[in-house]
Amino acid sequence: MSPHSPFRLYITGVTGTGKTSVAKKLTKLLSLEYLDLNTLVLEKGFYLGYDINRDSVIIDDDLITPYLETMITKKRRICLVGGIIPLKNVFDLIIVLRCHVDVLRQRLISRNYPEDKIEANIEAEIMNIVYYEAIEFFSDQNIIEIYNDKYSVDVTCDQIISIVRQHHSSVLE
Ligand SMILES: Nc1ncnc2c1ncn2[C@@H]1O[C@H](COP(=O)(O)OP(=O)(O)O)[C@@H](O)[C@H]1O
Ligand SMILES: [Mg+2]
Repeated sequence: MSPHSPFRLYITGVTGTGKTSVAKKLTKLLSLEYLDLNTLVLEKGFYLGYDINRDSVIIDDDLITPYLETMITKKRRICLVGGIIPLKNVFDLIIVLRCHVDVLRQRLISRNYPEDKIEANIEAEIMNIVYYEAIEFFSDQNIIEIYNDKYSVDVTCDQIISIVRQHHSSVLE
């Protein structure tokens, strides 16, 4: 694996689909730097406020977009994890993690999420909102949906690595 070939990956998906688990493992396997969008937003104060209904911060796109553009361009090998932000022409590959709603509900119940937040996320998954947001912002050729429910995180990482091998082989050289 060449540490010199640039590779910028974006892992997104509804809450509970496994973004953090998959990205943490994958960044080790591919020698990428892990960057969590929510952590960055909180650290830098890139938010407009708090959405009580969604129980999440409202990201200030005007602040975060130029910051990330500069930062990601400098980093070269990075994996950003989070919801969709309008960052065009930056990522080599965008993975939308998917999860069967029965599995997703169980995961969110285990996290002790309130029922309305669980239902909001289930609805988002049924409507495949993250994928449709992604194709609105990015070139659809670079967006791939991967189910992370039946099999382990390791299997999901293997599937992503085989996509990288097919389309971005220099990253693994
Ligand atoms: N492939 C998988 N098989 C079983 N459990 C998983 C899998 N992927 C993630 N999980 C579990 O699902 C929960 C949500 O995963 P997490 O990575 O926190 O999702 P997200 O970051 O998208 O909210 C965690 O408890 C995690 O351990
Ligand atoms: Mg997470």
